[in-house]
Amino acid sequence: MSDNRKIGVVDFGGQYAHLIASRIRRLGALAQIADPETLTPSEARAQYSGLIYSGGPSSVYEPGAPASDPALLSAGLPVLGICYGHQLMMQQLGGEVRNSGHHEFGRAILKVKSDVSVLRGENNSVSAVWMSHGDEVTRMAPGFVGIAHTDDCENAAVFNAEKNLTGIQFHPEVQHTEHGDQYLLNFIRMCGLENSYRIGDFLSKEKEALARSIGDRSVFFLLSGGVDSTVAFTLLSEILPADRLYGLFIDTGFMRKDEGIEVGTALRAHGIQLNIEDARKRYATSLAGVVDPEKKRRIIGDLFLEIQADCVRRLNLDPEHWLLGQGTIYPDTIESGGTKKSHLIKTHHNRVPAIQRLIEEGKVVEPIRDLYKDEVRELGRLLRLPEKLVDRHPFPGPGLAIRLLCSDADNADFRSAAALLAEHNQPLLKDIECTILPIKSVGVQGDQRTYAHPALVYEREGDTARLHEIARALPNFVREVNRVLRFVAGNRPEMVRKAELSADRVERLREADHVVNSFLHEKNIYGEIWQFPVVLVPLARKGVEEDAVILRPVVSLDAMTVSPYEIKRDQLKDLSNRLLAISGIGSILYDLTTKPPGTIEWE
Ligand code: XMP
Repeated sequence: MSDNRKIGVVDFGGQYAHLIASRIRRLGALAQIADPETLTPSEARAQYSGLIYSGGPSSVYEPGAPASDPALLSAGLPVLGICYGHQLMMQQLGGEVRNSGHHEFGRAILKVKSDVSVLRGENNSVSAVWMSHGDEVTRMAPGFVGIAHTDDCENAAVFNAEKNLTGIQFHPEVQHTEHGDQYLLNFIRMCGLENSYRIGDFLSKEKEALARSIGDRSVFFLLSGGVDSTVAFTLLSEILPADRLYGLFIDTGFMRKDEGIEVGTALRAHGIQLNIEDARKRYATSLAGVVDPEKKRRIIGDLFLEIQADCVRRLNLDPEHWLLGQGTIYPDTIESGGTKKSHLIKTHHNRVPAIQRLIEEGKVVEPIRDLYKDEVRELGRLLRLPEKLVDRHPFPGPGLAIRLLCSDADNADFRSAAALLAEHNQPLLKDIECTILPIKSVGVQGDQRTYAHPALVYEREGDTARLHEIARALPNFVREVNRVLRFVAGNRPEMVRKAELSADRVERLREADHVVNSFLHEKNIYGEIWQFPVVLVPLARKGVEEDAVILRPVVSLDAMTVSPYEIKRDQLKDLSNRLLAISGIGSILYDLTTKPPGTIEWE
């Protein structure tokens, strides 16, 4: 394979560049991330058969906004600009980009005028695309023609046939763009790279690269109980003999019911030994009284390292000869600012400062850091791991601890937060009972992290479509809101009560999580859902020591964008009754938020 048989994804920051690269690879062509600051036209020609300019959080007209060499656009390579990349391309070639005066996040309808370039194909003249932008191209550059538009965006797709340059405002790389794969596949064809890369190639190359970088050293590997670390560990076990690979599972007390036991059994069946460290007491002590979610994450991550260091000492492993192995995957890397310009979205478990230092010293091995979840699953199958294990829903490293909201003050009622909503006087909410809750959760909007309030809507029978419309529109209109919940069952909560990360509450959540997961298997719907956080929040009736359970089932391909999964009405009733039977659970709420604006997890 000649060296330029790949696509360069020029990274303008944010979360999208790696996702594009991973999607391109899955569609059968190798893609690599390229740096806009250093890429020259001659290098581009030597290394790539085509370029994709990624999205990014900046505005092209801002001073200091990231830009690539304009000469790349006449290097003779096909270029596809996406969102920020589209705007930059237009600006560099003499078009005009302005703030559109409104933000467009989420679904839009694309109407294709001319099915050329990436829009080539049948049955796609009207289809759903995913938008996430505040700026738009108000005037195309000379030589371009408009090939598609949406109601809110005139130049949603533009093409210059002579130079083979295409710009699109929407994101073809996210799952919610209906024909996204087809658009990208068209671009792969335009680069002449159809069917030129497979995940099996990744496996053999990665094995060689790992063997080289590890050399004669050994690897100490922390397993979280999830799919990622299990696959990464298994991959290492194919390269290293048993005496040079030590797998440790730290039981934080925040795992799912029986999780450690199940993973241990599966690995033993695969001939791999797992060591279990009981750290439940240490975690409980360190987290007593901690309310702030970022602080919680930091404590959990740092303690992980401390315990790991203790184990290394106890095992008498020479730190010079042992590396730290981790199952970090792309979204973890990206969302903590792993790509050069992306903003910090969340302090990830695997990216706390102490781990970051080890990475900088080159003491960390992360075999699957370039892969997305479904690629990890494919790799797991190639490594002959049991299907049940490979198909498990993703579960965050810090476990149940980040699905259990705490509060350090009794908040008598919802009035002050509800006043925020009254100010906005939304026609959308006419005749619908809705309040803003005085709690906050993490979200993501236009590549920026948000920390805002959920709105709680009391549904009227049969109004599901309107509820989804509210969930879509409310966070766009009301800045203080990044999630929309629906009240499902139980007692109406009246206040946020003071509540800690106590053993009782962890047990309550673990049981609720177990009830939900068993239910999904029983009803045979586990596989339809990407991930299903069950979140415990201290919303209660006045004077009652109870919590609300928030159900957050989502569908996704990659965790970068998600939409809520809808559980059938009768099933939801059944599930709610089972959950309300758990002592201390007062109400059931349902999270209807897409990502963006809400993240999958709540903290
Ligand atoms: P969000 O909540 O950002 O999550 O939409 C994206 C994916 O990442 C998982 N996640 C984590 N995984 N350590 C992990 O190992 C973490 O600290 C962490 N936080 C979020 C989340 O479950 C989802 O799959």
